[in-house]
Amino acid sequence: MICFNEQMQSFFLHSRSSTYVMKVIENGQLLHLYWGDRIPECDLSYIHLFYNRSFSPVLYDASELCYSLDTLSAEYPAFGYGDYHTPAFTIQAPNGSRICDLRYTGHMITPGKPDIQGLPHLRADENEADTLALFLRDDLLDLEVTLFYTVFKDLDVISRYAVIKNRSSQELSLLQAASCCLEFDHSDFQLIDLHGSQCRERQAERTPLHHGIHSIESRRGASGHQLSPFAAFARPDTGEQHGEVYGISLIYSGNFRISAEVDQFDRLRVQAGINPFNFRWALGSGDSFTTPEAIMVRSTAGLNGMSQNFHALYRQHLSPSRYTKAPRPIVINSWEASYFDFDEEKLKALIASCEGLGIDTFVLDDGWFGHRDNDTSSLGDWVVNTKKLPNGLSGIIEACKRHHMEFGLWFEPEMVSPDSDLYRRHPDWCIHAPGRIPSQSRNQLVLDLSRQEVQDFMAEAVSSILREYDIRYVKWDMNRNITDLGSEGLPADRQAELSHRYILGLYAVLEHLTTAFPHVLFEGCSGGGGRFDFGMLYYMPQTWTSDNSDAVDRLKIQYGTSYLFPPAAMAAHVSACPNHQTGRMTPFETRGNVALGFCFGYELNPLHLSPEETEAIKRQTARYKEFEPLMLEGRFYRLCSPFLGNECCWQQVSSDGSLSIVLYARVLATCNPPVPRIQLAGLLPNALYRIDELDLILPGEVLMNVGFSIPWLWGDFSTMLFTLRKYEGLPEKQTQKE
Ligand code: DGJ
Repeated sequence: MICFNEQMQSFFLHSRSSTYVMKVIENGQLLHLYWGDRIPECDLSYIHLFYNRSFSPVLYDASELCYSLDTLSAEYPAFGYGDYHTPAFTIQAPNGSRICDLRYTGHMITPGKPDIQGLPHLRADENEADTLALFLRDDLLDLEVTLFYTVFKDLDVISRYAVIKNRSSQELSLLQAASCCLEFDHSDFQLIDLHGSQCRERQAERTPLHHGIHSIESRRGASGHQLSPFAAFARPDTGEQHGEVYGISLIYSGNFRISAEVDQFDRLRVQAGINPFNFRWALGSGDSFTTPEAIMVRSTAGLNGMSQNFHALYRQHLSPSRYTKAPRPIVINSWEASYFDFDEEKLKALIASCEGLGIDTFVLDDGWFGHRDNDTSSLGDWVVNTKKLPNGLSGIIEACKRHHMEFGLWFEPEMVSPDSDLYRRHPDWCIHAPGRIPSQSRNQLVLDLSRQEVQDFMAEAVSSILREYDIRYVKWDMNRNITDLGSEGLPADRQAELSHRYILGLYAVLEHLTTAFPHVLFEGCSGGGGRFDFGMLYYMPQTWTSDNSDAVDRLKIQYGTSYLFPPAAMAAHVSACPNHQTGRMTPFETRGNVALGFCFGYELNPLHLSPEETEAIKRQTARYKEFEPLMLEGRFYRLCSPFLGNECCWQQVSSDGSLSIVLYARVLATCNPPVPRIQLAGLLPNALYRIDELDLILPGEVLMNVGFSIPWLWGDFSTMLFTLRKYEGLPEKQTQKE
């Protein structure tokens, strides 16, 4: 619910249990006053005490108040009038001046949420959300800035973006435009980020805030493996189940920056948006620029409360794909089974060996096109390699049908190999700087998606294969980041627009493909989880979480990823041992238990398995199918962090609370260890639950407060998956099985 109180000149944005307050002061400037527990409407101007502080300049038209932008909380601060913090917004006039003074001119409150053209965005109807458009203006520049806020009624989420419109007759240069700016009058928080690398994505890190600026960002042209577009600001005593936390993310897949600035008075300014590094956008007369949408979550139910808001937002308001809430196929992917070394006969044998295992879809990974026998060629030549596959893809697709599976295919459409017909035809189509030899990464170059003809080529290359063959699943890969920024399609004064234009071009192609082929489930991938963000999830409901399929490393990767993304967005597969990334041997059961509860599949060749392992696959696929509703509609709880010790525990609970699974993992065995006890979450307090594996029946409130003991586990890398079912019988005297 959004209200404007005329008398107080204040906006009150009420989400499920929080209130966000802004006020227009006499001179028309917009201040941020509060974001915290829900409060009644009240004039909060009293919280600002106006002191004359040395070295804090006073604004010309409010000097009698000692009103200084250096000490107050602006809602969308611009540069130039005494606010020395990082501005949310910087624009340059033709005379070189970068000073801007935004004043309120009006607002509009509407039910629902408008679409954002050309960018992925949240969606909501009039029963689900309200939107406030706040109009600000700089008279001298004839510039209009509109701040959009959407408040989601059943969640503790506010989303924000800004539209900057040049109403003057001259060209202006946009140097920076954050999607959101947040001010806190204290900095008593710890910062949680998700850092990592390829094969070690989204490692959760919690550090104290310090004075100065801390920046979480990407300059790679993609959101990247290194830092996810996410930051959480948690009270020092906030844990997984309790305490206050503010979480920020972006619906964007390119260069981003989330900054946290603690100032001389211990106040905190947080901003999120496109990274201003190497960014500049020419705003011609009448042009407007729209920032990506930012998501702001507040929870007083700990980090799980924050994550569940992000997860619900993904499920209910982000992805238009018909697969978002629908059962996902159990896939078997050919990559770790055969890499580039396959032909039709080998693949047919692999496909035949899947019969009866409960696997739904066979995915043919890299190596099916051009003359690609390794990673040195053929990206861009999306034509089936008939040396390997003499019957095109039809031979393989027919084999899949014979063995009751659908067929899926790998693409890496954004790339071009220098050894490809496409590159020989269009050497100018890759991103490159004039006169310089472009850097290669994995022997490939990046196509220049800022150009319409390149977008058209890419859309048609993928479409023609999807039209020709019965393909139900596409793995969309992207195996390098962008360097040598330069586009032959842009004039010199627009070269700094390339990174953002690339992402806009990518989104345009994805919009086209996902609309034209609604029956295809698209899975995002970038060397694993190198472009795992809400922007890509708008088009593709799931992402290959990591190229690291080692079950022990996956504990951290999946635990960390769950801070932001739900299990229904994370693909997790059982692979062979010794693991191809770490060389580690783990029990087959552990590999299954760690992947169950996520978009499940296999990354191995069943022909190389023992009969016991083949039987285990049948049990795993049956279990996955039983528990899939928990992944699609349920709640995910982190219970015990692998970042803090030798154990990891997470739990999934169905939406009605009647079914729950709990994964417990102990990494290294120790002799004579203490007995771990796990307190569960999210159960119905007054219901009885039966834990199948322990033959134990207990009330939900006992399981959540007292917990249950983990039986003796033998050996390194041991796990147990517990199943809790709501029990309708009478309570019994309980003894826990050992
Ligand atoms: C990187 C992906 O993450 C892998 O799963 C695989 O598809 C390879 N690329 C293929 O080149």
